Amino acid sequence: MLLSVRIITPLFVLLAGVQAKLNTDNCQLISSSESEKNALILLEPLTNQSFTVKGKDGEPYSYIFQVCGDAAGMKNAGLVQKTEKPDVLVRIGNYNQTRAIKGSDWILLIYEGGKNYDNHCSGEARKAMIMISCNGNAKNDFFVVLEDNKKKEGCYYLFELDTDVLCQKTPSKLSGGSIFLIVVFSCLALYLTGGFLYQRLVVGAKGVEQFPNYAFWSQIGNLSADGCDFVCRSRGNREEPPTYRGVATEPLGEEPEERDDHLLPM
Ligand SMILES: *[C@@H]1O[C@H](CO)[C@@H](O)[C@H](O)[C@H]1NC(C)=O
Repeated sequence: MLLSVRIITPLFVLLAGVQAKLNTDNCQLISSSESEKNALILLEPLTNQSFTVKGKDGEPYSYIFQVCGDAAGMKNAGLVQKTEKPDVLVRIGNYNQTRAIKGSDWILLIYEGGKNYDNHCSGEARKAMIMISCNGNAKNDFFVVLEDNKKKEGCYYLFELDTDVLCQKTPSKLSGGSIFLIVVFSCLALYLTGGFLYQRLVVGAKGVEQFPNYAFWSQIGNLSADGCDFVCRSRGNREEPPTYRGVATEPLGEEPEERDDHLLPM
């Protein structure tokens, strides 16, 4: 009992220590719900890297995105619009004002509290929505979908990140054929070991007789050998097997005995 406590307690502390170091903990959820917290944890493999994409239709700026970290080095900004020459950074959304909505194989990450619009959208704060979804073939493809700002309120910048991080890891993808083969070989192995043990321990067989249904299988073997013989050998060889010549020598062996009889004194 004491030993297990000694082993488990440091483990627990270690785990708690690892838990405290999650990068996604830097995101602050606007409404702290358990499901949003769990959604954020799934994004942990995407943290500590920067995703950049050019604006649509040759717009003179690019967007920089980071999961729960400073994008383009701007404090608390998770998504930033960057214009070059001269360099201007516009805060689109903050990761200290995050929502994370989880679906079957996607998470909608929302960063709120960006720079206020000047003319559009009644001057409300900019907001970034990043649709992060499973794509087994994608290596974190980040792209702009649209900027929806032609309305009074509820404007947003929409982005998409395709990644294999959110794809459910299935244990294995076995085809029907390989499952069939596995079942057949398992049954065969069970039959052989079970039969072997039965023959050895219950029947008390020795040597090759320990194989289950030895007589049956050897008969099958003989029959198939005969079949093979019939199919493979040419007819001429089969009618006159060389073994018959050996039989013919037997009467020769008897002759000296007969001669011996004659030599015996009467
Ligand atoms: C988030 O960060 C920004 C920029 O540092 C700051 O102005 C804002 O007050 C923060 N919001 C919250 C809810 O912490």
